Order: sequence, then structure tokens, then C-alpha cells
Amino acid sequence: MKILIIGTGYVGATTAMVFAESGWQVTGLDIDEAKIERLRQGHLHFHEPGLEELIDKHVRSGRLLFTTDKETAIAGHDIIFICVGTPSRPDGSADLRYIQQVAADIGHWMNGYKLVVTKSTVPVGTQERVTAWIEAAQRQPHLFDVASNPEFLREGKAVEDALRPDRIVIGTDSARATEQLLTLYQSFQCPRIITTPRTAELIKYASNAFLATKISYMNELAKLCDEFKINVNAVAEGMGLDPRIGPSFLQAGLGYGGSCFPKDVSELVMTAREQDVHLHILEQVMEVNRTQYAYLLDKARLRLGDFANKNIAILGLAFKPDTDDIREAPATRMIHDLLLEQANVSLFDPVATLPAHASYGAVTECSSAEEAIRDADAVILCTEWAAFEQLDWESLKGLMRQLNFFDGRNMMDARKMREIGFYYQGIGNDY
Ligand code: UDX
Repeated sequence: MKILIIGTGYVGATTAMVFAESGWQVTGLDIDEAKIERLRQGHLHFHEPGLEELIDKHVRSGRLLFTTDKETAIAGHDIIFICVGTPSRPDGSADLRYIQQVAADIGHWMNGYKLVVTKSTVPVGTQERVTAWIEAAQRQPHLFDVASNPEFLREGKAVEDALRPDRIVIGTDSARATEQLLTLYQSFQCPRIITTPRTAELIKYASNAFLATKISYMNELAKLCDEFKINVNAVAEGMGLDPRIGPSFLQAGLGYGGSCFPKDVSELVMTAREQDVHLHILEQVMEVNRTQYAYLLDKARLRLGDFANKNIAILGLAFKPDTDDIREAPATRMIHDLLLEQANVSLFDPVATLPAHASYGAVTECSSAEEAIRDADAVILCTEWAAFEQLDWESLKGLMRQLNFFDGRNMMDARKMREIGFYYQGIGNDY
């Protein structure tokens, strides 16, 4: 079985790698010539630990090919994974225009039976719409199935998650599609859920929204912990030992960002609203997350009086460590507000950079943490890069103008920071 992956972004590139690793012949198709050219040389256009090496390995072995030729690619493959982006519209609902375009291309160029699988995160009911779009574009009738097979990859851990998933969800109404997908995933050791397309689509949204809920819940509790001088991490540890709760995703901080959680929660809320169902809890999850960065910024403002002409060092820009992704990153909101309030902002992130955008013109991007904190009136740590743990604040403090440390990821030991002379504020990790 030869596999075609349409869309070679984050999900597509990882999916292509996974199937090549499993021994299948894979082709990646994209409309972006430059992206395809780089992939043909074994290079990725984004940062993801370990992925480039595996893509390069399979490009060299000939198991992984890349093309921009839709017609030949669609005609030449019977299994097609749709991995294109589903951005949010301004109202928070999913924009399916890229999925629709791909479905129309498949319908137009198909020359026999095709199994079409959506990997992209799509709202409930999309499988039915893709089916209709393919049908409408067909030049002559050919049989096809559309299945839903969502991915659960975390950025920065995509290789690990993709090669060792904790479950494979297959949503289909066709025995033929089920059989083919089970064969494709035969080498994987994890539970398989075979269900309806709508259920599969909802499993993905419901999982991400639940994880986002855990985070917002802890972020609210952290504020209470600050008032009572309780360490939220200790509370999380005590909660997490209950197997019904589990220890993960209880880390309070500046809130969730990235390409998935913010988008998926708002899309689920919108999908529900279209059915006249109000997901009140998720609406509040979004609101807590939207304002979470401001909680720490308010603390910093209170301490400094105001931000005008203050030197603020931001450590970490990416929405989380081990990625260069800054989509919905709390640091970008922080920087935006600081600039509005006339602060001098210097920034260091080991990998991520600000886009060339006029609104960020005033930010000084530094090549080391030392450079960023020189003459700073305050440090605001926004991303928990492991490298920040190695920083020796005892010796670095001499570089700063005032010893104020606002820890948006509770990375530091509050007591130790205070012992070496810092005014230290985390998110509920006071004790
Ligand atoms: C997430 C899901 O984990 C993944 O299954 C899905 O396919 C895509 O969305 P990702 O966005 O890569 O993956 O990041 P993840 O590691 O899940 O973190 C999401 C955000 O939540 C980050 O901003 C992170 O900083 C934040 N987070 C996570 C917390 O604030 N606290 C936590 O305890 C965990």
C-alpha cells in the first residue's frame, strides 16, 4: 500500500515520517514549492526535535518522496491522508477552506477507489462534508471512503508521540476502510478505538478541551494559593496521586498556548453553539486562559509602580519549551502590553524569534539570557526551557539594575531566589 500525505506542515511531515518508519512507501504533497524542495533535501521548515533526522533518513532510502504534482500524486495513490491546516475564523469556528480544496482536488483527479483519511483536527460532521465535496468534484463516479483518524501529537515530542501513541482512533462507516487502516497501523502496540466518524472527531476535540480545562482549573487555584501562601505544585502532587485525576497537566503557569488548545477549545464551543448547546465550562476555561498572563503582569506592575522606561527582560518566547512555535504564546501578549506601557523590552529564547512585524520593532532580541537581563529592572520568565534551570542567579544578579523576578512557569525555587536577594513572584508557588 502506497500512502499519500496531503499537506506537509507539522502534522503531515510527522505522519509521513511515521508511515515511512513503519515500512510503507510514502509521498508528501504540498502546494508550497519551497517547502517541498527543502523536504526533498531532507530539511524541515520548523523546529521539532528528532524529526528532521528521520525525514532525511527516509528521503535517502527512497521510502519518502515529495511532490507538488497533485494530479499524478492523487491518481497514483489509493490511500490519502489529509493533513492540511484548519485555522480558526475570527469568530472561533474552524475554517475548512483548505480541507474543502483538497477534497475537491481528490474528487477531480481520482481514477479508482480511494480511502481518504482526515488527520487534521476537524469539527464534528466534517467527514460527511468531505464526502459531499469529493462527490461534487468527481468527473465520473468512483468508489471512495472517508475516515477520521485524528492525531494527538504534542509539539516538541511529536516523534515520540507519533511512534508510540497511547491510542489510535479510527472513525469510519466502512469495513474496507477499517481493514486498510488497521493494516497500516499493524506494527503499533496500543489500544485501537474503532468508532463512527463523528465520535472520532469529537474524541480529539474533547481530549484537548479537557486538558485545557485541567490547566485553567489549576491556574485559578494558583491565585488562591498565592493568597493563602500555599504552593500549588504541592496541591497538584496531592491531587495527582488520585488515579481518577492523574498527575499530568496540573502545572499552573501563564496559560496554554500553541496551535491546538486555544483553537480547539473555541472551535468546540462554536460547534456546540451551532447546535444550540452552551458549553459553559469551556467558555470559562477560555476566559481564564485569556487573562492568565495579565495576573503576573499586574503583580509586576504593582511592584515596579509602572512600566514606563523600565527595562524588562523576557526569558522564553515559545508557547512551551522545545519548539520555535510562538502561536498564542503568552509571552507575545506580555510583550504587547509592556510595549504599550512604554517598557524597554529585551528578549531571549533559545530557539524562537519574533516575526518581523512593526509592532515588535522596539523589542531587543538577545542571543543569551545574560545579555537580556543586563540592567533589567525585572525578569519575567515565560517559557520553561531546561536551559533556564542551569542559570546561576547568584552570579547573574550583579548584571541587573533591580532584583525582581516574575516566574510565569514556577521554574525557580521561591525560597532560594529570595535568599539570594530577589523579590520573587511565581504563579501560586509561594510558601
Ligand atoms: C496539545 C496536545 O497535548 C496534543 O495531544 C494535541 O494533539 C495538540 O495539542 P501541544 O499544543 O503541542 O499539544 O502542547 P502541550 O504540551 O499539550 O501543551 C499545551 C499548552 O499547555 C502549552 O502552552 C503548555 O505550556 C500548557 N500547559 C501544559 C500548562 O500550562 N500546564 C500543564 O500542566 C501542561
